Amino acid sequence: MELIDGKAVAAQIKLELAEEVKKIKAAGGKTPHLAAILVGHDGGSETYVASKVKTCEEIGFKSSLIRFEDSVTEAALLQQVIALNNDTDVDGFIVQLPLPKHISEQKVIETIDYRKDVDGFHPINVGRMSIGLPCFVSATPAGIVELLRRYQIDTQGKHCVVLGRSNIVGKPMASLMMQKSNPGDSTVTVCHSRTKNIKDLCLQADIIIAALGSPEFLTADMVKPGAVVIDVGTTRVPSDKTKSGFKLTGDVKFEEVAPKCSFITPVPGGVGPMTIISLMKNTLLAGKKAIHFA
Ligand code: GUN
Repeated sequence: MELIDGKAVAAQIKLELAEEVKKIKAAGGKTPHLAAILVGHDGGSETYVASKVKTCEEIGFKSSLIRFEDSVTEAALLQQVIALNNDTDVDGFIVQLPLPKHISEQKVIETIDYRKDVDGFHPINVGRMSIGLPCFVSATPAGIVELLRRYQIDTQGKHCVVLGRSNIVGKPMASLMMQKSNPGDSTVTVCHSRTKNIKDLCLQADIIIAALGSPEFLTADMVKPGAVVIDVGTTRVPSDKTKSGFKLTGDVKFEEVAPKCSFITPVPGGVGPMTIISLMKNTLLAGKKAIHFA
């Protein structure tokens, strides 16, 4: 079993990005600028956004954090999105999800200028990704593909089971794995809460990508010996053993699944750091205007 060290790969890519930003600045180019909108005080969202801002600093990007209380109206939030669309200094921006129930996430996403949509959530980016055109690919699936590439994991003709059908991870992940590319070229099955025979399907999988948000869902009896297991889960489970009072828990029962795998990602330190670094890569692409939406 080989552990996929997302933390180390992300650190390596961070150095590569910082080097490139240094060169851009030395040549008199514009400093890439990422803005983030954070609504409310959800613990997970606070942590993720703080980490994104910190990583921007480390790479040499400019970053702006725009905060609203939970009570913000949809109209006020949309107005802020439009302001960022029109701000020529901002190369890309994100609206951290989830949003309060009275705000339509879809409306917010569709208001973002797709050329600044470094999260890759806008329907134009999702559609372009699904037919293999240049676009912003959402960060978590892009990070997973990068891990498969760097660990030279053979995906061609393999059976990949994606657990979860979210717009952020499951659907784009399935799309990328079936793409005519390397990594890619897999035969993909998507399982979700209404799937009847998840265990049987998982047992047929060469690669399992678990993105259900259901702590320790995938157990050893569901995994074929030699399978590759990618754990996207990051549920905060209460714990009296940590200072923060919770333990970040994946969708995989790691201790029993790991010995059966050829490769596996840990939680934390697997997919998580790659998600943030993929957002940084997209920000650099946005800053360089490197994606040609014709
Ligand atoms: N919430 C959970 N993951 C993400 C993400 O990748 N981007 C945004 N904007 N919100 C999220």
